[in-house]
Amino acid sequence: MEKPKAVLFDAYGTLFDVYSVALAAEQLFPGHGQALAILWRDKQIEYTRLVTTSNGGTHYQPFWQLTRAALVYAIKRLMPHSAPADLDAQVESLMNQYRSLSAFPENREVLQQLKARGVGTGILSNGDPAMLQLAVKSAALEGLLDHVISVDGIRKYKTAPEAYALGEQATSLKARQILFVSCNAWDALAATWYGYQTLWINRYQLPFEELGTQPSHVGIDLRAVLKYV
Ligand code: LAC
Repeated sequence: MEKPKAVLFDAYGTLFDVYSVALAAEQLFPGHGQALAILWRDKQIEYTRLVTTSNGGTHYQPFWQLTRAALVYAIKRLMPHSAPADLDAQVESLMNQYRSLSAFPENREVLQQLKARGVGTGILSNGDPAMLQLAVKSAALEGLLDHVISVDGIRKYKTAPEAYALGEQATSLKARQILFVSCNAWDALAATWYGYQTLWINRYQLPFEELGTQPSHVGIDLRAVLKYV
């Protein structure tokens, strides 16, 4: 395997902590914060697959909208007896949290190190450009990323190969020359299938997907990236 010339990161779950909303969710729905954060995330990803694989992609909605729809679903599912009149305010309050998710603490240092080593850096994400820009800004990662690539332009979510192809197009590199880093096992798997060198960040000590392919590398936090460049 050649040394990667660039590192592309997934955004949500990898650079930004999607489960950090559990705290705010717990305040709104005592006893359900954690479950809500997990169901919200799972539903959000399910919706990306639904709109990408159905009916020629004609039901595409930007990630912000899918995230909102997934949250409404999760609240209705877990709190079937909560007053419908409160729903809008609850959704707005949690979507506001999502706008500026906590970033994992080691992010900045890892990106700075990559820059110092002359390695290209970027995000390749399902997020739409506006939400990615805000997340990058609120995590103070501006200036440390050469590329912020959103699938929104092609209206197809990962794991569509066209979505992974955007990383090659933006960097003018081949997938095998790029290290793709994701905390999401499904994303690390599909990026491996596509042809990237991959690093799965197994932050939560989970099993990898059982589909017969392994990521190129596994680490426990983003600092692991520095071993492979
Ligand atoms: C992303 C989601 C899938 O940032 O985590 O692409």
